[in-house]
Amino acid sequence: MAAVAGSPTGELQGRRALVTGGASGIGAAIVRRLAAGGAVVAIADLQAEAARALAQEVGGIAVTLDVTDFDAVAAAVTDHGPFHILVNNAGIDQHAFFTRTTPVEWRRLLAVNLEAVFNTTHAVLPGMQAAGYGRIVNVASEAGRLGSRGGAVYAAAKGGVIAFTRSIARENGAKGITANVVAPGPIDTPLLRQAVAQGGEKLLAAMTGATLAGRLGTPEEVAAAVAFLASESAGFITGEALGVSGGMGAGA
Ligand SMILES: NC(=O)c1ccc[n+]([C@@H]2O[C@H](COP(=O)([O-])OP(=O)(O)OC[C@H]3O[C@@H](n4cnc5c(N)ncnc54)[C@H](O)[C@@H]3O)[C@@H](O)[C@H]2O)c1
Repeated sequence: MAAVAGSPTGELQGRRALVTGGASGIGAAIVRRLAAGGAVVAIADLQAEAARALAQEVGGIAVTLDVTDFDAVAAAVTDHGPFHILVNNAGIDQHAFFTRTTPVEWRRLLAVNLEAVFNTTHAVLPGMQAAGYGRIVNVASEAGRLGSRGGAVYAAAKGGVIAFTRSIARENGAKGITANVVAPGPIDTPLLRQAVAQGGEKLLAAMTGATLAGRLGTPEEVAAAVAFLASESAGFITGEALGVSGGMGAGA
């Protein structure tokens, strides 16, 4: 496989990684990037077919599950772990002003974007602690730092992910385990296209306009940051939130 800038081929050799939501968009780019670095990657996703196809492409493992299911996540980690790298990337979004949203929608947004991170971390962390090594990278959002017009509960969930990650970093700092957040801005994926379908072209213009770069990001640009934080070289970086957002959250 060709060398990948910033993640020399072989740097992740011998490492096992679990990537949630790895079948699509940013997650799929993360899977490809970690696999290119030499890791064996388990792709945990609701989309069985897409996960299987990608697992075949990268020589990884497809695990069909709903990350909100505590028992299913625990069973998957028992079957396919222990993992040196955990990337919590699965997420869902909704574009609507808060007063037009319902408690049923809030619960699903919180379950997938926040509680699922508890499920996987609870299942994976004991193995990392026993090994004295681990890299946890949680894909949050600039919305979790800045708030979001039309995404209040999503932003609350992502803000929760940032606080949770920093807490895990504090609890495990001296155990060889790092926990960091990557906070994307608008990235061109199916999830963003779905938001644009709900919010219209004006939303797309507002999203790109909010970046200093004046454009959407790519899944590969997020994956590069995740791969760095998942690497052994990033061992002295923990409890951080790194924006990959064309400068949208500069200074946050
Ligand atoms: N695209 C953006 O602009 C953007 C911006 C900021 C943050 N993010 C975050 O990046 C992450 C990836 O988003 P994306 O844009 O690639 O989205 P996407 O919709 O392309 O991919 C998300 C993946 O998560 C999976 N998934 C959703 N719910 C799941 C569940 N309950 N169990 C298992 N798998 C589940 C989906 O099947 C899909 O494969 C999300 O956490 C999202 O909130 C995206």
